[in-house]
Amino acid sequence: MHLVTLIPGDGIGPEITKAVTDIFAAAQVPVQWEEQNAGQTTFDQSGELIPVALLKSLEKNKLALKGPITTPVGKGFRSINVTLRQKYDLYQNVRPSKTTPGIHTRYEGIDLVLFRENTEGLYSGLEVFDERLGISDSIARVTVEGSRKICHAAFAYANRHGRKKVTLAHKANIIKMAGTIMINACKEASAEFPHIIFEDKIIDNMCMQLVGKPEQFDVIVTTNLFGDLLSDLCAGLVGGLGVVAGANIGDNMAIFEAVHGSAPDIAGQGKANPTALLRSAIMMLHHLSEHVVADRIDKALEDTLLHQDQCTGDLGGHATTSEFTQHIIDKL
Ligand code: NAI
Ligand code: MG
Repeated sequence: MHLVTLIPGDGIGPEITKAVTDIFAAAQVPVQWEEQNAGQTTFDQSGELIPVALLKSLEKNKLALKGPITTPVGKGFRSINVTLRQKYDLYQNVRPSKTTPGIHTRYEGIDLVLFRENTEGLYSGLEVFDERLGISDSIARVTVEGSRKICHAAFAYANRHGRKKVTLAHKANIIKMAGTIMINACKEASAEFPHIIFEDKIIDNMCMQLVGKPEQFDVIVTTNLFGDLLSDLCAGLVGGLGVVAGANIGDNMAIFEAVHGSAPDIAGQGKANPTALLRSAIMMLHHLSEHVVADRIDKALEDTLLHQDQCTGDLGGHATTSEFTQHIIDKL
């Protein structure tokens, strides 16, 4: 039995985590959940954004499935997501985007995996505002060590999964130092895996190429902010935020979560698509080497996605979150 910390989160978080735990129970997955919340919900209840009990649970289990957490815009509330990623050095944010039969999009044959550096860059939290001068400085700290780690992780993943190409997205023509560090880090990793093609593209062109001919990409590696933007873009190519999974991975801990946020516009209405979190949970099962049950759940999900009428509204269907969940359970 694997002990896993479960963080339901805010907004649609509790609805989609319930969908996943129901499906796991029906499939008799050998996972025992240890529920510990964080975010707006715990703050309203106890005044704590990240309760100590949650940190203790994470440090013990070293593995979590996490719902989205609301981060208000502006000063005074540091993102819990960013905090956890930095505190536990979860330096890889791995986000696969794949065309799925049954999900109608403008594209075919997309199968790419984005590796986003998850602890540095413009999300380092190094921001100062001089009120007198009216100047804000936001420092995008990129380190040689951090760049080596994420670039090596992307190539090693490509190697393990029989993928053929790694594309680095950067802006080294303008952001020269940080961009060059990433290019050099990729060149080093590339020398270790010479059978994998390495190419680099400037981020603006990368965006154009992604919407124009996304099927040309395989593994993509990039810095934190670019990766955040590109992963929502890639979600849009394959059916939207409701279907794209993610994982925050470090050398000692992993937290699996969807790419999307807490979706306050649809929270509590039974409209949320749990596919993204379920796919994150399936990634978690592969991480635990529970491949058989992971594939079984994946198959039931893929079969359900073939029936648009059994899907949630974001995919053109009419099912509620719990009806969609039941359709998956019926196919297990
Ligand atoms: P969002 O990703 O929550 O929502 C964007 C749009 O996608 C909304 O129209 C929403 O209804 C839709 N959507 C998202 N997930 C969906 C799902 N599973 N099924 C159906 N539709 C879905 O982004 P937004 O609105 O910009 O952010 C809301 C909050 O979430 C913010 O406080 C933000 O900071 C937080 N956030 C948290 C993340 C995390 O915990 N990892 C990641 C991204 C945002
Ligand atoms: Mg994002």
